[in-house]
Amino acid sequence: PAPPSAKPSPPPAANGAVTQEELKRVAAHRAVEMVESGMTLGLGTGSTAAHALDRLGELLRSGELTGVAGVPTSLKTEAHAARVGIPMLSLGEAAAVGGGIDLSIDGADEVDPELNLVKGRGGSLLREKMIEGSGGRFVVIVDESKLVPRLGCTGAVPVEVVPFGCDHTLGLVRKVFDGLPGFTARLRTVVSKDGEGKEKKEVPFVTDNGNYIVEMFFEDGIRGDLNEISDRLLRITGVVEHGMFLGMATSVVVAKKDGTVALLH
Ligand code: 5RP
Repeated sequence: PAPPSAKPSPPPAANGAVTQEELKRVAAHRAVEMVESGMTLGLGTGSTAAHALDRLGELLRSGELTGVAGVPTSLKTEAHAARVGIPMLSLGEAAAVGGGIDLSIDGADEVDPELNLVKGRGGSLLREKMIEGSGGRFVVIVDESKLVPRLGCTGAVPVEVVPFGCDHTLGLVRKVFDGLPGFTARLRTVVSKDGEGKEKKEVPFVTDNGNYIVEMFFEDGIRGDLNEISDRLLRITGVVEHGMFLGMATSVVVAKKDGTVALLH
């Protein structure tokens, strides 16, 4: 495939400090060092994972890596991987041909001290969980702003739901946290424009799987047994999956502002 046009690195911050984008790039490149020729990879989604895709493309084009194939966790990642020349397999093909996924590399929205994650604020949680939980190592790449004392501290915990009866499902999700001070949940929406870009209206965000996303917000993060909460959410008919990735990460690469990179296990 034709090499993609070189993408300029993001400019350094005006005050000379290292930018968050640069930290994402550093973490991604460190994880790509773990990739060996012949591996089948889970290809993550998001701005941090995008740096890993670019680096993998470079190494494949230069011949430093050969025989690598990836299973993309979203349509966006599929398009990106195609652009940078990463051969791709479906999840089924990866199992049948490549003996399964050897290594997945993906970003996260939050990482707690036990390496539990919130993922899916980009909306790709279902395919991410299917691929990254299918076997092999799962290396998470973050800048240090993603480290939190408890999941749900910095923003929404997403839950993918089927569109049918989504308002009813939203009510059932709210019931799981009945009476919890500060808890709210709502359907994720986006503003859609008409053909001429004049009329704007709020419509549900639709995932790659044709589903909707319920966003759960916690005042000070989720306190309590995460596995029990996970079970209660997954028992709701209408919930497809949630964005808490519990006990799934095998290691986390953290790029820090002081220039160091930590590898957490
Ligand atoms: C997408 C994800 C992303 O990995 C997560 O949102 C982190 O994204 P970014 O690297 O852009 O901060 O789970 O569904």
